[in-house]
Amino acid sequence: MYKLSLDSSSVAEFLLEKNWLFPQEAVKSTEVPGAGNMNFTIRVITNQRSFILKQSRPYVEKYPQVPAPADRVLREGEFYKLTAHIPALAARTPKLLGIDEEQSILQLEDLGVGSDFTGMYAGKKNLTIEEVTELVDFAVSLHDSFQDLPSEKRITNREMRKLNHEHIFHYPFVEENGMNLDKVLPGLEKSAAVYRQDAMLKQRVEGLGELYLADGPCLLHGDYFPGSWLQTPQGIRIIDPEFCFFGSREFELGVMLGHLQLSAQPKEIQDYALAYYLQKSGVDQVLVKKFAAVEVLRRLIGLAQLPLSLNIQERISLMQKASLTLTS
Ligand SMILES: Nc1ncnc2c1ncn2[C@@H]1O[C@H](COP(=O)(O)OP(=O)(O)OP(=O)(O)O)[C@@H](O)[C@H]1O
Ligand SMILES: [Mg+2]
Repeated sequence: MYKLSLDSSSVAEFLLEKNWLFPQEAVKSTEVPGAGNMNFTIRVITNQRSFILKQSRPYVEKYPQVPAPADRVLREGEFYKLTAHIPALAARTPKLLGIDEEQSILQLEDLGVGSDFTGMYAGKKNLTIEEVTELVDFAVSLHDSFQDLPSEKRITNREMRKLNHEHIFHYPFVEENGMNLDKVLPGLEKSAAVYRQDAMLKQRVEGLGELYLADGPCLLHGDYFPGSWLQTPQGIRIIDPEFCFFGSREFELGVMLGHLQLSAQPKEIQDYALAYYLQKSGVDQVLVKKFAAVEVLRRLIGLAQLPLSLNIQERISLMQKASLTLTS
């Protein structure tokens, strides 16, 4: 397998071989475009433009001992091939410039040097109504646009869904799963134990997990949270749909709402997001809130931790609320 690296001459050779450069185009330099954990992503700067190369490997880039579906980046390619047909979606996602199926590498439009919305968790950023509107508009268009696609053309992405299922609906709720939450924040381990011992809660989470694994009519981004939202000078752009699949829209909206809670966005903003989605398209509100609750819990007591500034009391109160939503 060709292993993509920051080495400009090796990258130039790969690009020439693929015919992914314009005539007279020469690679000037490469750089890391931003933080990523799962894959290997670089920005290539040439004498004419810049673009992004993203390679998925049979493991998680940051934790090479953890295996992951090797060709997952190709699911991302399939997503962009679909969204390219819908102007409202194409305008908010990078253009797909090339796919190398053998090496699991994508060539993508460079959306420019921007930052994602991860700063929201540190209380550094409140979303504006305009930003929430943009984010919900994208989700609604995505969910509504491909419902007539014949089932054999729908992206199933089973392997990535299995991986996500484990980390959202299972692992966080396993007693003595080997994680020491006190290393995240002292006192968290004891607070998590309550939920890990709650049979009713666990049964509800399991049921939602089954819904997540079931196929549905809507194309979902699959990982619709601040790390996938890029702030660029042209507005918000959406990247990294490697967990995309056709499922139920409630999961996606639930995840988004969960992150509005985790980043302590004002209640009006949280309510607006759901109300605005409802105004534009039908959605089962109760189910959305339940998926949001699972997302909150799994981000607080699971492996995929976020750079949160919440203290233990604030985390406990989010967990209590989530647990109530799930068991009532
Ligand atoms: N098309 C693009 N234009 C500009 N910057 C990009 C683009 N794609 C990715 N980036 C930058 O590279 C970073 C990593 O990309 P991406 O999130 O797709 O990788 P990843 O390894 O799947 O990340 P994660 O581990 O969070 O899932 C992004 O946060 C962003 O800063
Ligand atoms: Mg990713």
